[in-house]
Amino acid sequence: MAEVEQATVSVRVARSDAGAETTFEVERFEPMTVLDLLLAIQREQDLSIAFRFSCRVGMCGTCTVRVDGRAALACTTPVERDVRDVRLEPMAGLPVVRDLIVDMAPFWDEWARVTPYLVPRAGLDEPAVIEPDSEERRRIDPSLDCITCGACYSSCGVSASGRDFLGPAALTRAMVLVADSRDAARDERLRAVGQSDGVDRCRYIYGCSAVCPKGLDPAGAIRALRRWRLGGGP
Ligand code: FES
Repeated sequence: MAEVEQATVSVRVARSDAGAETTFEVERFEPMTVLDLLLAIQREQDLSIAFRFSCRVGMCGTCTVRVDGRAALACTTPVERDVRDVRLEPMAGLPVVRDLIVDMAPFWDEWARVTPYLVPRAGLDEPAVIEPDSEERRRIDPSLDCITCGACYSSCGVSASGRDFLGPAALTRAMVLVADSRDAARDERLRAVGQSDGVDRCRYIYGCSAVCPKGLDPAGAIRALRRWRLGGGP
């Protein structure tokens, strides 16, 4: 069936102020993203609507919202020509600051707990590089480009329900560093991810992997980490 182009889009926005207007009719243009919708609302209808963004090109990870229930980057999520209604909500499982803006502190607390930076081995030669065509590089690359947008956190039933869990982003970061031969904190990290709130709490629903805007596979990284922790190596 031919797609029917809509002249306007009806945007339902979750607001934190009780009684605030929640539905806006936005004139559409091509091409249009969810962030374009929000900017049009702010420019033409309601200056007070609150949302977060910075780079507008899918790199900074600040604009994550739920679009019709699914966590996504507002700046790279298109509003297709035939779309008539869009529902926008803040990320799940994080305290709402205002409207679509959440407090990322719980996410960053988890991130900090896996020692999310390289701890150089003593005597590491400079510059220490991982060869592009090495097995080590092949293990690390699929998990490397996390932009800490929190989409995986929002889509993880365990994280979003507030249960103690290191969460898909922090565990993916841990996997990258555990696999890095230049790092001296592997044992410490494997201990951290082996706690009761670590890899064993993942239920492998793969919601995190389904929504990652960078195409990473957090559930796969958690699987690899679990294998590693049980002595199976990389
Ligand atoms: S504004 Fe930077 S990722 Fe969307």
